[in-house]
Amino acid sequence: MKKPNEIVAARLGSPLAIGVGEGEFFIASDASPFLEYTNNAVYLEDEEMAIISLHNPLNIRKIKDDRLVSPYVQELKINLEQIEKGGYDHFMLKEIFEQPHAIKDTYRGRLLTDEGIIKMAGIEDHMAKFLNANRIIIVACGTSWHAGLVAEYIIEELVRVPVEVEYASEFRYRNPVIDNSDVVIAISQSGETADTFAALELCKKNKMKTLSIVNVVESSIARNSDLVLPIHCGAEIGVASTKAFTGQMLVLYILTLKISFLKKNIDKNMFEKKIKELKKLPKLIKATLSVESEIENISNTFANAKGSMFLGRGFAYPIAMEGALKLKELCYVHAEGYPAGEMKHGPLALIEEGIPVVVLAPRDKYYEKTLSNMQEVISRGAKVLLISNKSKDEISSENVWKTIEVEKTSDELLPFLLTLPLQILAFHSAKNKGYDIDKPRNLAKSVTVE
Ligand code: AGP
Repeated sequence: MKKPNEIVAARLGSPLAIGVGEGEFFIASDASPFLEYTNNAVYLEDEEMAIISLHNPLNIRKIKDDRLVSPYVQELKINLEQIEKGGYDHFMLKEIFEQPHAIKDTYRGRLLTDEGIIKMAGIEDHMAKFLNANRIIIVACGTSWHAGLVAEYIIEELVRVPVEVEYASEFRYRNPVIDNSDVVIAISQSGETADTFAALELCKKNKMKTLSIVNVVESSIARNSDLVLPIHCGAEIGVASTKAFTGQMLVLYILTLKISFLKKNIDKNMFEKKIKELKKLPKLIKATLSVESEIENISNTFANAKGSMFLGRGFAYPIAMEGALKLKELCYVHAEGYPAGEMKHGPLALIEEGIPVVVLAPRDKYYEKTLSNMQEVISRGAKVLLISNKSKDEISSENVWKTIEVEKTSDELLPFLLTLPLQILAFHSAKNKGYDIDKPRNLAKSVTVE
């Protein structure tokens, strides 16, 4: 080692911050790790390097021609918490707006377009188990359970294997009929949810192959599964799960595409087309997030209603349930997610003058049917917020209160976009009420007890 007292840090692509303390320096991708020691920082530009040595001032140079750059030392005016929130007032909003990036992090290294394959380190050596499974059982709680329900629609469509999605808290106690020809997938952002963990243990006892889809890779669920697929979406701090939900749906979708292709349910052309479409998702999410101000303007109605309903068909149904869950947990008002076609079997009686109802009607095979269910609630006085996707055709349905359109994409990717306005709706409704959005009452981020 020629210069043992010297460290060289270079920036290319990812951010790099140098903390300048009293006789000490810090190197990190942002200022939060060193903020408790110094609030003086230098942010390197791309293709710059910092040569840091004991007893010498900070030396910054251009990598290309070794030109000296005089360091601009910024005095950071923000506190630790603000830095972590990246300029947002709430973690939840930050995490909602991180989704274009988070989605990329989830698929990075997995979609090898040039080679025409999907690589999922962690399960590659066990594909036979997935290809030969007689049944897939998904266990999860809350939002993670909703991600499982969306996957049920997509796996059954593309893989043609029966899928059962179970609340972990029910599954673990009801002596389920399972055997080792089934594969179990446990979904958990935290990887610490007690019920999901117990459900997984039950499956292991029954000699089933266990796969977990987690965000926290060091978690108990990850450590105790045979196979792990991380969602890589970065720390999620807000109690209401947002970016982890889209990350979970994405990992499940990529896994589905892989199995479907290997089972020859879809041909190479179709497979490549789907991957190409998938790679557009970050941009489509970003564009869809621009509906924020429209939603903010109407959030008052949901915040102050005595209750609301969220309706959908097909995979829009679990997304409707997810929207209702978000509103309940953040805004403390009753909200119910329901299959649009089931309303006439009971819940239609709840509809009265002025009740806000979200109708998710993407232009898929259910579109006309959902619009007709929507008219059933409108004619009973509901104030309908219709969420659909952009199209050249106008929506021809009368007396809709408000319409929000998400971007255009394939049917299979619509759940990702339909979710966004609902996350924003819950956020702004709770903000309207002045509630603690990141830490709603009575709830915890990881539910480590029963
Ligand atoms: C979501 O907004 C909730 N806070 C909650 O339903 C959560 O998804 C559930 O507790 C499961 O958590 P997990 O994904 O960490 O297992």
